[in-house]
Amino acid sequence: MKRRKFLKRASLTGIGVAVGTTILANTPSKKINEIKNSLTKTKENFPIVISTWDVPNATKKAGLLLEEGSSSIDAIEKGCMVEEADLNNQSVGNGGRPDRDGHVTLDACIMDKSGNYGSVVYMKNIIHAISVARKVMEDTPHVILAGKGAEKFAISKGFKKTNLLTEASKKAWEDWKKESNYKPIINIENHDTIGMLAIDKNGDISGGCTTSGLAYKMAGRVGDSPIIGSGLFIDNKIGGATATGMGEEVLKTVGSFLIVELMRQGKTPQEACEEAIHRIVSKNDNYKNFQVGYIAINKKGETGYYSIHEYFSVSIYKDSNCTNVPSDFYNKN
Ligand code: GLY
Repeated sequence: MKRRKFLKRASLTGIGVAVGTTILANTPSKKINEIKNSLTKTKENFPIVISTWDVPNATKKAGLLLEEGSSSIDAIEKGCMVEEADLNNQSVGNGGRPDRDGHVTLDACIMDKSGNYGSVVYMKNIIHAISVARKVMEDTPHVILAGKGAEKFAISKGFKKTNLLTEASKKAWEDWKKESNYKPIINIENHDTIGMLAIDKNGDISGGCTTSGLAYKMAGRVGDSPIIGSGLFIDNKIGGATATGMGEEVLKTVGSFLIVELMRQGKTPQEACEEAIHRIVSKNDNYKNFQVGYIAINKKGETGYYSIHEYFSVSIYKDSNCTNVPSDFYNKN
């Protein structure tokens, strides 16, 4: 089920979502906590994958690879690629919504168990930004490549040049241009960055993050997703975290690094995600106008997730089962 449908359904009818073999109805907080406890109880259940939003295909892809013995970094790349290739997903990869000049520009990053990191920012014409980010990590002396340089590097590595602006995204952009009112809408596609964290059978953690960024952003805008510590951070001794939502606010609070450091100090992934959201809320009187969601995992495989607003959800692959779980959130008024 696509995230947009999930969100619409959850908000308008209260009917739940079915993924894999698990069905979650319009779930009250107590039930959410019970499900979370059952999903995060033990460390014997590696591998585990957690992704932002309702992305069963991507999450299952990564989970199945891990079950077959793949490393967490391979699973992250292949899992994220599923969303990048999905034309119906207008916030990631091919078919992403463009900037206000009509260009689809991608941000992505990947980080491995050894603390290696690679990213691309503001890259055009290449579908699999996550794979280019991995090549930056593994095949260059750098960690970030931007714009034309990233595209040129990708092509030199055999990636195919593709027009990422689909008819659907072009039409949406043309409609938007009639008023040109830049107002990101909470939870509705403008923000649906895919962040993914995985622990493989060896207990090693990797993460990835991929997005076309905010729809109708200014040309040249870069969000949190490709920036180490903001959109993603992994410390294989401690855990990992990644973000979705209003990148500017994640950048200003270096959210993913903050969460990993809070876990290092002894907080659970849930407590750390909540504190990172509180940090943003406490600095913004206008927090009701934007969404941020965090997910985190620690070395034991315990997970956490929290957002400012309702209808953020996560996909969790564990014990050969992929489940979509609604996240708890701050703004209950
Ligand atoms: N979190 C994605 C972005 O702001 O671009």
